[in-house]
This record gives sequence, C-alpha cells and structure tokens, in this order.
Amino acid sequence: MKATAIAQPNIALIKYWGKRDIERNLPAVGSISITLSDLFTQVSVELDENLRADSLTINGAIDAGRLPRLQRCLDHVIGEQRMRARIISQSNFPIAAGLASSASAFAAATVAAAGAAGLSLTVDDLARMAGRASGSAARSLFGGFTELSNSGDTINLKPLRDQYSWPLKVVVAITETGPKHTGSTEAMEISRTTSPFYGSWLEQQDGDLQVARVAVEKQDFAALAAIAEHNCLKMHSVMWASRPAIVFWNAATMRCMQTVRRLQDAGHNVFFTIDAGPQVKAVCMPEDFDAVREALAATEGVVEIMSSGLGSAARLVANS
Ligand code: DP6
Repeated sequence: MKATAIAQPNIALIKYWGKRDIERNLPAVGSISITLSDLFTQVSVELDENLRADSLTINGAIDAGRLPRLQRCLDHVIGEQRMRARIISQSNFPIAAGLASSASAFAAATVAAAGAAGLSLTVDDLARMAGRASGSAARSLFGGFTELSNSGDTINLKPLRDQYSWPLKVVVAITETGPKHTGSTEAMEISRTTSPFYGSWLEQQDGDLQVARVAVEKQDFAALAAIAEHNCLKMHSVMWASRPAIVFWNAATMRCMQTVRRLQDAGHNVFFTIDAGPQVKAVCMPEDFDAVREALAATEGVVEIMSSGLGSAARLVANS
C-alpha cells in the first residue's frame, strides 16, 4: 500500500494571510495563485501494518520535527485508525524558506496518502484536505491560475486559467537559504491578534481579488502587476505593524525590489511578490524573462536564482 505523488508549489498573487477558523485551518480571506512548473516536491506514503510508528524522511534525513504535522494530515485523509506510515519527501528547492514548500509538500502528501489508502476522492475533496494541513496547499491541487474562496464553512477552489493560455514566467531570487524565523501559521495569528491594519486587510481583499480575477481573464499584465504588488506590500504592512513586528525581508530583498522597479522603468513587463520569507519572486512575460533573470542574478545579496514557468496540478505518479 504505497503511493507517490508530485506537487508543485504555488505562489499567491493575491495573498492568504490570517485564519477565520484555526481548528479547521480555514483562511480569513480568499486568494489567487499561480502553480509553478520547475519546482517540485515528491512525497511517497507507504502504509505498513508491520510498522510500529510513523516516520518521515525529508531530502534524505529523518525529520522528527515536521512529523506531527504530516501525521495529522494523514489522519485527516485516511482516518486516525490507519496503519503506520513511512513518509519520504524530496524537494528540488530549499524548504521552509518562504518558497511555498508547505504548499507542495502537503498537496503531494494528501494525494499520496489517499492513493496509498486506495481512496478515490474528488480533486475538490483533496484540495480541502490539503488546505486543512496548510492553507496554501489547497491551491497546488490545481495548475495554472487558481482562485481559492471561502464558501460557507469550507473553501472552494476554482481554476481561472490554465498554464498554457497565458504562460507567464517566474524568477525566484533567493536571498537566504536557511529556515525562516517564524512559521506562517504562527505569524498569521500574531497579525490577527495584534496588527492595527488587520481589519482593513480583511475589508479590502474582495476588491483586490476582483481586480486580479478580471486582469487574469483579460490577460492584462499591467493591471495584474499593480494589484499583486499592492496586495503583497499590504500583507507585509500588516506584518510589520504586528507586535512583535514580523519582518521577513533582508537588505537583498529590498535590492531585488529595486531591481524590479528599474526593469519596469526600462519597459519590461515584470512585477514582484514576496511571501513569508526573504525571497523575491518576479513574475514576468516570457519575452522579459532573460532580462529579469540576468538583472536579479546580478543583484547584490542574491545567493541563488531559480526560474520556472507555470505548471500543472498535483498528481499521483505511482501506486502499488
Ligand atoms: C504568505 O499556507 O503556509 O505564502 O495554512 O498556516 O500552513 P498555513 O499557512 P501557509 O500560508 C501561506 C501564506 C503566504 C501567502 C499565500 O500563499 O497565500
């Protein structure tokens, strides 16, 4: 009873920040994301009645610290009375550094767990289960552009556009490779309970989603760029005003933003977005990709560059 799944991380252009139900991990706001093609996490789940305990190996090393969250994910998908599992996860990018590794990891783990247990679930069910483990993971059950919205006491996922019809490119400027100082789950709660801007963040999100949805529909890059940068900076303003302040940026993060501004001034179609970490993701049109990649690679403090196109939904790759 073993299954292996692959999922790609997604990057939110309109961000999820804050929860309305911590127990069920329901987001306080909707979000719109793009799923990437070149970064991936592969997770295999092997259920074995001879095992006495679950185990987790990440990129070749036993990881007891991250095991409990994966165990809860498997309990939720398969049921708490399940057989013990051997979970093996591999990613081709740094984990826990603000690169959406939890999105691809929990999307892949959910699909692999369901496969190993022989469950046939709809993609919406799988997305809701992945979202319970990590809010952003729900979106990696879909490729291309995806909108996550709150509906009643659950979430709803809607594909807005596939990855081929508007093949944007993403350059990720990595400015630090170590794990981030505060996880998003904890940081969101600090923001919800202390940031004076949290209320306006919630109030304005539907408007931002509407603008982005129309921009994606019309392939209006300038409109998408403007709303995505605004939404990103607004989310970080909520964090900065929290107590204690949550600042994920470093000096190189700022320099990368300036590089993107310079590229925009030179006429390139590019915008930045930053998640709960110091990395800068520059989203651009295919014809601007080389210039964006080159300029970010030459920016002081950038330690590594990764690039990607838009990718497909999480999927099962082996089942036995
Ligand atoms: C800044 O999905 O990591 O990347 O549900 O607590 O696991 P949990 O949070 P997570 O939060 C992602 C936050 C973000 C924005 C986004 O991806 O929408």
